Parts: sequence; structure tokens; C-alpha cells
Amino acid sequence: MAESTRLRLDRALARLGLGTRKEVRRLIKQGRVEVDGEVITDHGFIISDPAAARVVLDDEMLTLRKHTHLMLNKPEGFVTAHKDNRYPVIMDLIPPEFQAGGLTSVGRLDIDTTGLIFLTTDGELAHRLMSPKYQVEKTYHLLYQGQPFTDIDKEQFRLGIRLEDHTVCLPAELKILTGNAVQLKITEGKYHQVKRMLQATGREVTYLSRVSIGSLMLDPDLTEGDFRLLTRQEILDLYHLVRLEVDSNYL
Ligand code: URA
Repeated sequence: MAESTRLRLDRALARLGLGTRKEVRRLIKQGRVEVDGEVITDHGFIISDPAAARVVLDDEMLTLRKHTHLMLNKPEGFVTAHKDNRYPVIMDLIPPEFQAGGLTSVGRLDIDTTGLIFLTTDGELAHRLMSPKYQVEKTYHLLYQGQPFTDIDKEQFRLGIRLEDHTVCLPAELKILTGNAVQLKITEGKYHQVKRMLQATGREVTYLSRVSIGSLMLDPDLTEGDFRLLTRQEILDLYHLVRLEVDSNYL
């Protein structure tokens, strides 16, 4: 097994969502944490091989995380960025202890789009999920104004919509839901892509929300503005999807 990078104990616990850096330092000070059979009260303790370490909190064995992987249910009015001069940004919704290690979002949603944002500190995973080479499907639910979609439109999406600037999109799957609601699956991430695809068909998007990225589905229990860490299975599925190796003991 490849040796993993050294990790500070307080950082390791905060990364698991066990509390803020201050809260996990208190847990450590209280003598509730053991590393390889020894009670550790120094929050700066360095775990020299996190993939192999046996870390226990209150008699419960923990699986340490190499990376931070989060899903956020983005509300309207937030820009997908770290900083913006005019608007609130999605990073305002993520506490600092989860932002360490270079947390970045996989793709962007427009300020008025809601739904699934996946954030990760693993640059290679992010790159592959966005790369056209891996053909990762993003699913959107949307409402629109204009002529009702028909099977002919579905076929047009399947063949590739030509945008107004003449760019031809990769095949997309349009599913007619009810009334003026549709689901659209695309494998690219061009600027304002969904809105421009509908515009090219003479319609206008009035509501847009992303519900999945590849195997990762927006948790229906996550209210807008909330985030959560990915489960072990969700992480494994994403790595598998883009054919990346992962140490299942240290995700
Ligand atoms: N397509 C868009 O037009 N906007 C988004 O936010 C995402 C996809």
C-alpha cells in the first residue's frame, strides 16, 4: 500500500465533520481520542501514516479521509466562486474547517440556478468529472416558457442541438415530465449551456436546478443552503465512474 501523507490529528477529525477545529481540539484534550492504542491529548499530534492508523473516538473506530468531498444544495442568489465583489458566494455556505486543502467546485451553476454542487479537494477527480473525455452526465430539472416539447424535439436533442453561435452540442437526453417541466441530461459544461440549448429551440428557461452529476444524486433531505460530506459509497462510486484508483481505507 502506498504510504499516505502525514496528517495533523485535529485536522483529520475536523475533516470528518466531527466539529469545528476548536470543538475537535476539545475532544482531543478531554482524552477521548486514541491513535494506534494510545490516548492522544495533543491536538497537533501528527499521524504519520493516516491510511494505516487506527484512530478511535469514544470507542468508535474512525475511517480517516484523505480528501474532503462535499455536496451542497445551492440556493439562488449565490455565485459559484470563492469570492465576489457584488454577490454572496457558495463558499460562504461552507465552514472554514472544510475548505482547507483547496476545496473547489466541480463546474459552476449560474447565480439563478439551484441544486447540486459537488466540491472536492481532489484535483484529479474534479478534472476527470469535468473532462469531456469521461462523458459524465449532469442531470437538470427545468421549467420553460414556449411551445410544448414534442418527440421531434427529443430527437433534435439526441442528435445535438446547434446553438445560436453555431456550436453543436454533444447528444443530450430530453425527457418530458409534466406541463412545462422537463429533465435534461448533458455531458458537457459549456457556458450557460442549458439556457442556450433551450434558446436555440425558441424557448426560455424560467427555472433550472441540477439534480445529479454522474452517480452522485442531490440528497432530497438537504435543504437549500445546506451541505453534507459524501458517504463512503458515494465517494467510491465517483472514483469508479472516472476510472480513478482510490484507497478504500483512506478516501
Ligand atoms: N446550464 C445553464 O444554462 N446554467 C447553469 O447554471 C447550468 C447549466
